[in-house]
Amino acid sequence: MSDHPFDLIVFGATSFVGQILCDYLFERHGADGDLKWAMAGRSKTKLQSVRAALGEGASGIELITADAADENSLHEMCGQSRVIISTVGPYALYGSGLVKVCVETGTDYVDLTGEAQWILRMLLEHESQAEKSGARIIHCCGFDSVPSDLGVYHHQKVALEEFGQPATQIRMQVARMKGAASGGTVASIVNIAREMTKNPALRKILANPYALVPDGKARARQLNITTPTRDPKTGAWLGPFVMAGINTRIVHRSNALGGYDYGMDFLYDESMRMGRGLKGGLAATALTGGLGAFMAGAVLPPSRWLMEKYILPKPGEGPSREQQRDGMYDLRFYGTTASGNTSTTRVTGDRDPGYGSTAKILGEAGACLAQDIAKTDVGGGFWTPATALGDSLLARLQQHAGLTFEVCD
Ligand SMILES: NC(=O)c1ccc[n+]([C@@H]2O[C@H](COP(=O)([O-])OP(=O)(O)OC[C@H]3O[C@@H](n4cnc5c(N)ncnc54)[C@H](OP(=O)(O)O)[C@@H]3O)[C@@H](O)[C@H]2O)c1
Repeated sequence: MSDHPFDLIVFGATSFVGQILCDYLFERHGADGDLKWAMAGRSKTKLQSVRAALGEGASGIELITADAADENSLHEMCGQSRVIISTVGPYALYGSGLVKVCVETGTDYVDLTGEAQWILRMLLEHESQAEKSGARIIHCCGFDSVPSDLGVYHHQKVALEEFGQPATQIRMQVARMKGAASGGTVASIVNIAREMTKNPALRKILANPYALVPDGKARARQLNITTPTRDPKTGAWLGPFVMAGINTRIVHRSNALGGYDYGMDFLYDESMRMGRGLKGGLAATALTGGLGAFMAGAVLPPSRWLMEKYILPKPGEGPSREQQRDGMYDLRFYGTTASGNTSTTRVTGDRDPGYGSTAKILGEAGACLAQDIAKTDVGGGFWTPATALGDSLLARLQQHAGLTFEVCD
């Protein structure tokens, strides 16, 4: 029995994604069901209105006031729960204090960061203490990077069963995706660009596919799709996938933490499939140019200011309920083993990737850590979704969160 009143606290319940998450937790567990959970944030009034919007029966959900900048309040919050889910981002700006306090108090933690430079900072500062205190810290528990990390995990499990060996290379292609970005996500990307301007050495770290691998040593020469590229197998044009920068780092970290189950020379890349022929080539070129222009605009202070002020969504803004409901994604993982056996895994989600689906994935990741994964099975440290939550999260996502994982050929 735990001596904490809560299994889970959602810190950042008032954020765009936090509100969708609270809706999901309330629908799935109620206010006083199998999972004891509470909502936390810096403003009691805002928390009260988010709770009221959940509807009848939600008044039993407890509200906790805590500020990311006030360590005492973070200590008080962590003392009350086994797991903290944080949506308070950009994490590089507001998240470090909470990770520190979780590590100090042995509190488990999951979040939605996609900021590799910040994860690396947290690892360097806190990894050894987390191993001692028993705090399990799991970053990237949303669309980045759970479908990628668990898609590869699932693919390799099946490859081992069928072929007796893992795939030495997996190439993930986004076959279809429908969704939009929120202000919080855009703020995180813009903040990475801001940090790169201040610290040019960061470019090298962000460009290293093995940046989050414990020994930091590059293995095989990793391929990346950064320009329009024709897939020799299908003839389709591929363009860069904006989340590849974080997802590939997490997949390589999972491989390393798992004792190189996928092999020392494992290769993994991600891209967007843009179609065949001239139309596909033009779409891949437009995507490459658009992403390049966005990053160039975000790096230069005057254009960054203009983009933040006039073009990009503001913190708290994001896709409508209809856009979330009508969204979806379909990812294909093409694997090849050392002996040349090939197979394809398909991963789908039933809502827009960044919010509707992310909120459900995050909720299940937090509940999974609280309810399914004993500290004796997975001890303290900085884990990835696949290495800490593996099969339990796979099952939860398929049963409750609208995801599918299947081998399709
Ligand atoms: N991994 C993924 O797939 C994925 C998907 C979506 C989002 N994200 C990330 O998730 C994060 C949240 O995104 P979002 O769009 O929901 O953000 P958002 O709407 O801008 O919300 C930010 C939250 O941070 C809170 N906050 C800011 N400063 C605080 C402080 N000092 N103390 C306590 N709380 C504080 C805000 O509280 P107030 O309401 O009181 O202002 C708000 O709840 C971002 O970092 C985003 O990049 C990741």
